[in-house]
Amino acid sequence: MSIYFDASQNFFHLSNNEISYIIGIEKKQYLTHRYFGPRLAEYHQVNQLQMIDRGFATNPISEERTFSLNTLPLETSTQGSLDYRVSNYQFRNIDGHCITNFAYDHFEISEGKRPLEGLPSLRGDQGQTLAIYLVDSIQSLEMVLYYTIYEDLPVITRSVSYTNNGTQIVYIENAGSMLLDFPRCDFDLLTFNGAHTNEATIHRQALHPGIQKIASTRGTSSPQHHPFLGLADRYTNEDQGDVYGFHFIYSGNFVAQAEVEQYGSTRIQIGINPETFEWKLSPGTTFQTPEVVLNFSRKGFNQLSQTFHTLYQTYLIPKQWQQEERPILLNSWEGNYFDFTEEDLIRQAQLASTLGIELFVLDDGWFGQRTDDTTSLGDWYVNNAKLPNGIEHLADVIHQQKMKFGLWFEPEMISVKSRLFERHPEWSLQVPNYPQTQGRQQLVLNLSLPEVQDHLIQMLIAYLSSNKIDYIKWDMNRHLTEVGSFLLPNDQQKEVSHRYVLGLYRILSEVTERFPQVLFENCSSGGGRFDPGMIAYMPQTWASDNTDALCRSKIQYGYSYLYPPIMMGAHVSDSPNHQVGRNTPLESRFLIAMSGNFGYEIAIEKQSPQELEMIKEQIIFYKKHRKLLQFGQFYRLKELDASYSTAWLFKNETEALLVYSNGLAQPAQTVQYLKTKYLEESALYKDMNTEEIYSGSELNHAGILIPRIKGDFNCFYIHWTVIR
Ligand code: GLA
Repeated sequence: MSIYFDASQNFFHLSNNEISYIIGIEKKQYLTHRYFGPRLAEYHQVNQLQMIDRGFATNPISEERTFSLNTLPLETSTQGSLDYRVSNYQFRNIDGHCITNFAYDHFEISEGKRPLEGLPSLRGDQGQTLAIYLVDSIQSLEMVLYYTIYEDLPVITRSVSYTNNGTQIVYIENAGSMLLDFPRCDFDLLTFNGAHTNEATIHRQALHPGIQKIASTRGTSSPQHHPFLGLADRYTNEDQGDVYGFHFIYSGNFVAQAEVEQYGSTRIQIGINPETFEWKLSPGTTFQTPEVVLNFSRKGFNQLSQTFHTLYQTYLIPKQWQQEERPILLNSWEGNYFDFTEEDLIRQAQLASTLGIELFVLDDGWFGQRTDDTTSLGDWYVNNAKLPNGIEHLADVIHQQKMKFGLWFEPEMISVKSRLFERHPEWSLQVPNYPQTQGRQQLVLNLSLPEVQDHLIQMLIAYLSSNKIDYIKWDMNRHLTEVGSFLLPNDQQKEVSHRYVLGLYRILSEVTERFPQVLFENCSSGGGRFDPGMIAYMPQTWASDNTDALCRSKIQYGYSYLYPPIMMGAHVSDSPNHQVGRNTPLESRFLIAMSGNFGYEIAIEKQSPQELEMIKEQIIFYKKHRKLLQFGQFYRLKELDASYSTAWLFKNETEALLVYSNGLAQPAQTVQYLKTKYLEESALYKDMNTEEIYSGSELNHAGILIPRIKGDFNCFYIHWTVIR
């Protein structure tokens, strides 16, 4: 890995064993994007910049009409002159003018990577960082572009800091995190879109002229659009072809866009969504943007996923969870909803313990007057009618059953019907004179207020200090409205959305760092805020409120492009399923849930003796293969088709496990051989069910005949151990 500056030809070359990224300096002032892709052993500027005197092109040097920033591939945009494509930043000065003129100033190269203050970011112990300084000398503004390249992965991170070294206030109307121009547009754009209970649906479409953009203005990254863009060659599939992935480490409003411009190049830009953002940059202050991960694969989507999986397990989630096995849980929600007593929970926990379950999670309904979802958020004291002996007592009883104890919170919310709202109505997000909009009959606390942050930190510390809570499910079940704050002057109201996210990050970092042994699960009505920012604090996320096995196989398939199975909470729930009413076999529900971070969310006492016996066996099976399922490599073997059939493979040095789901049964079944593709070619694998022995190469290339499966939503698995 190295970052090299060629002083004679004025370019930077960032490279490791797999990738190169090259930035040029033109006219000693302007940063051009020269290359990003497979590693180049050396670079001698073979791909010269196109210099043509174009119509409507503007020229920084008037007599040099072939040189225009309107057409060159750039590393950042210009503002108010020269470049008309989507921009990465926008300032407004005190006179109301929106113009800057940044020019290259100097650079620094350093080992490692500094953490981004107040923001989650990848740890950079294995990286090297290039900081390129640009200066607007008229207003004394400084912009620093940060690039970190990793030693062991085809990954670069980018972020920007904006500093006001002048004497006047300036306002940042747009604080983008990265921009780069590819000199071509024959890409397919990949996005993950969805809705509540239908998260992470993959969309792939050819880029076309104009701007293709996804964004959130909801206050969170949202289930509607995941903060990710992929650019794939047309022929790229799971196993071959080039693909770039851009993933934003941020949990609030974002924009991610691709612009195909007039001469066939593609601009990628990602950052905080400027629609709901502005920042007052006082003299002597700096604004740091969140970070974007740039990932490149030459071997299709599976390889891209391998890199994301390793990257986030190694450099993003809290260190203490990297190698830590996760417990099998029973979550109380779908089995009880709000309707339970202490005796019910204790009986359920006792039964769960005899089945081998390791963590009992008490979900919503344990606090305040909470008998339905209309009340009590914010009143984080125990509901005595349901739990007369308190949370600590319940935790003790669960611990006596040799299980861990987990508890649900939705800390960012406040019900109008709550003691907290009576005491602190001003803590909820609001704008003077306008009614407050409710969602799920609740309001959102203004997390940008330090006193609200302190209150939540203290509340959580008080619960966790008892040492009785081993796990917290952190929920967030509505989006932001009336985003205003009484604490800020009128020219800073548009800071609130971002300050909310910073407040959230402050709470999360203080609480998770103080209680490193507590496992936090991220949730926002399922995957509503499943993003790399949240993962930096909470190593797993409840992937969707949809627990139907068939829907889940699609949702988990989508998330697996970016996150490993250990990060996606997945539970066996009752059949018929509560969200879609579908009946699925218990075996299928198990195999799909087992392919994520595994647990149960069922009315456990209503299961038949046969079902309980099956569950017991499932748990024994899971424990036996937990290392493989939680820490093995995960590959998709089949692209999702109209029948929703899926197949995937878990693999480590000693074993492998394939899960196949037929989705909707088809008539006139075609001949299908499923190729495992990623097993060790020269190894011998023993099928632990049939005792047949096969070579990795025959499994990879000749494949397994898919048997005739009648009935919908049936899954099977094959488990092999490596015998040589
Ligand atoms: C959200 C979560 C569910 C459950 C409920 C409780 O919808 O995603 O898992 O915790 O809230 O109200």
